[in-house]
Amino acid sequence: MKTITLNNGIEMPVLGYGVFHVSPEECERCVADAIHTGYRLIDTAQAYYNEEGVGNAIVRLDVPREELFITTKVWISNAGEEKAARSIDESLRKLRTDYIDLLLVHQPFGDYYGTYRAMQKAYREGKVRAIGLSNFYGARFVDLTENMEVKPAVLQVEAHVFAQQTVMRETIAPYGTRLMAWGPLAQGADNLFKDETLRGIGAKYGKSNAQVALKFLTDEGIIAIPKSMHKERMKENFEIFDFELTEEDRRAIHRLDTGKLKVDHNDPVLAKFLLDYDKNFNPSN
Ligand SMILES: NC(=O)c1ccc[n+]([C@@H]2O[C@H](COP(=O)([O-])OP(=O)(O)OC[C@H]3O[C@@H](n4cnc5c(N)ncnc54)[C@H](OP(=O)(O)O)[C@@H]3O)[C@@H](O)[C@H]2O)c1
Repeated sequence: MKTITLNNGIEMPVLGYGVFHVSPEECERCVADAIHTGYRLIDTAQAYYNEEGVGNAIVRLDVPREELFITTKVWISNAGEEKAARSIDESLRKLRTDYIDLLLVHQPFGDYYGTYRAMQKAYREGKVRAIGLSNFYGARFVDLTENMEVKPAVLQVEAHVFAQQTVMRETIAPYGTRLMAWGPLAQGADNLFKDETLRGIGAKYGKSNAQVALKFLTDEGIIAIPKSMHKERMKENFEIFDFELTEEDRRAIHRLDTGKLKVDHNDPVLAKFLLDYDKNFNPSN
């Protein structure tokens, strides 16, 4: 597996498997299938309510823990130094592990300063190997990063061939922060799988649109975590290291960038939805 080195020196796979919208019941099976396929990076979150499924899969399978790279995220309802610290211990328990490889602040809402402080402490205590942010754009990213000692190793944001995040990549570069793409297949939007440019490029190498799109991201040094519930698609998304894109291919894919995101974190309606999310969607409420 191709890896990249984070700003604290640790190695992280450049391709992984995400479990957003995977039910707790299905999660163990999906993560086991993904690990059997060859994935070593798994991306979950407190707010996916399926960390236990990830934990059960990693304990059940015969893969040494140090070969795996487990990412999770602190949700808004656990924001603030004390609550976040407790929630990190809860994530460790659910994930059935002594350490989390990468821990992110999931959303730029609530007391995320307190959350990040708790994450820095967990990092220093060895409970977490790297910390970072998700969905922090522009000034919010710079403000938190400038004020914290441990610079984010990773920023996870929406990124795909139609939204290549060129500005954010420039913003985070001075801190050595690496971009991690959520929705690397544009969340299954048809236009990606039917796009003629991707199709034309893939035809030259016997590869699908999904494979070309993921290859492009990882070539750019962007960590990609496609999600699929289907084993054959997990395999398809994993088989991207046996062909090369040319400069001309890359230029054509750069031209697909519209800069438009599907999810706008400056939208007050989204902010309210996310602030109420745990109340409305936590299955244990
Ligand atoms: N930090 C955040 O706020 C945030 C937000 C969203 C996501 N994420 C993370 O990023 C991961 C990936 O993002 P995502 O799940 O939203 O979207 P995605 O990976 O871009 O797309 C997933 C969708 O594409 C379909 N799909 C996957 N591979 C395919 C293939 N080869 N051909 C055709 N269809 C395919 C899947 O369907 P099937 O499952 O039916 O195959 C699913 O509908 C998440 O699972 C999560 O870990 C983070």
